[in-house]
Amino acid sequence: MISSDLLEALQGRGLEAVLEPAQKLGNVALKELEQDLASIHWPTLDRQLEALKKGGTPSVGKLAPPPLAPPSTIPSHETQEASQMGWNALKEGRIALCTVAGGQASRLGFDAPKGAYPLGSVSGASLFQGMAGQVALLRKETGIPIPWIIQTGPGNHEDTIRFFSKRAFFGLSSSSIHFICQGTLPALSLDGQLLLATPTSLFRNPDGHGGFYAALHAAGTFKLLREKGIDTLFYCQVDNPLVRMGDPAFLGHHLKSNAQMSIKVVEKTDPEEKVGLVALVDGTPSCIEYSDLAPELAKEKSQDGGLLFRAGNIAIHAFALDFAESCATHPLELHLAHKKLFALDGGMQPVERDGVKFETFVFDALTRADEVVVQMCERDEEFAPVKNRVGQDSIRTSREALDSRNRNWISGSTLPSFNERKRSEILPGIALCGESLLQKENDLSLIFRNSLLIED
Ligand code: UD1
Repeated sequence: MISSDLLEALQGRGLEAVLEPAQKLGNVALKELEQDLASIHWPTLDRQLEALKKGGTPSVGKLAPPPLAPPSTIPSHETQEASQMGWNALKEGRIALCTVAGGQASRLGFDAPKGAYPLGSVSGASLFQGMAGQVALLRKETGIPIPWIIQTGPGNHEDTIRFFSKRAFFGLSSSSIHFICQGTLPALSLDGQLLLATPTSLFRNPDGHGGFYAALHAAGTFKLLREKGIDTLFYCQVDNPLVRMGDPAFLGHHLKSNAQMSIKVVEKTDPEEKVGLVALVDGTPSCIEYSDLAPELAKEKSQDGGLLFRAGNIAIHAFALDFAESCATHPLELHLAHKKLFALDGGMQPVERDGVKFETFVFDALTRADEVVVQMCERDEEFAPVKNRVGQDSIRTSREALDSRNRNWISGSTLPSFNERKRSEILPGIALCGESLLQKENDLSLIFRNSLLIED
């Protein structure tokens, strides 16, 4: 028998049909299912049912382009000041770095965590290694053991830790990397019933990168960071090898403006590009997902001939720690995805059937922030995500962008330039940006001789 509380919770919502397959199998199966059902967060499930009932895409209010902070790569007094402020915060130990890396790399045809993908064109360095190199360099330059938080998902948590552990955490101390696992949400049928993956377990999916806030909360990470004196988070996605981890100028702009959440954008030139659009919606900074933006708005032109709405979200943020924590306890909007799922449908074996997955998005918190900095940056320098096996944002385009950025950095220095036809690579951990490569020319000629900077 299952507990009367649980039965009541299910019956009160008309969801008791979820018990039927396990009931047919007997008490042991029912007990197993009960354990799974016990982890349902009922208020969230009620919000899911409500969202399903409402259906459709949320209507978008009146749009206007947001004010933009200039790219950190363009030298100016403002950038210099911001950069100084960011470095100071890093050196005072006020910053933690965060990377969201939930999900497998199935779209890349690679059966492992996406961060394990070997993107380095010569060395085969993984996305994680590229980031670890930058973390190491930031730590070296600040003398501070800046924490690195990696948000995994239930499908890749163990694999991710194993990947790092096998590589001795890329020389970073294992206790300074915090692996936290995001939560899941149960999927529903089109008519709002709980779906089962097996007779004794619900069909669940990761709760989206918006689950980042709750995952930090559940793991006790906010408390831990606060005790270390950290008040600001730098956030990025694992899929962008050009990310500037802990970009001091970005952090500086964020801190100088007393912002609660900040976001980096690139200029969108193709109205169909699959990046979220950052805009003022009824005067409030917001990010509208590409799938929710009307095509005629996406195409609208400004007087300078470019797109009127051109601030493309590259999923790099800064957060005030308190603000991020408040997002863990005040639930974000749920986004629905109608999908074909493998779940039970009357029988005992999963079959392909229609269902609805629910997710939350990290950038939905923007609308809650009193102050937001939207920082423009140069695409060639900072954004080339690897999303697909072929085509746009593919392994090839991302790798080429990384190589080309490296070539740009080197061409600004007196180091021997790369032969255009050859693949080239600046190994992770050598430089944080072109400027820092220039500053290290003397060391680098040594590095060059030692083939740490390589070509084939
Ligand atoms: C995302 C953004 C889009 C932005 C683009 C920039 C969404 C809905 N949209 O698009 O606005 O312009 O990136 O590259 O995210 N992840 C988790 N847990 C999850 C889901 C995703 O950790 O449950 C992580 C993934 O590991 C990945 C990142 O979030 O690093 C992005 O997820 P993805 O599904 O690839 O987002 P996109 O649709 O590409």
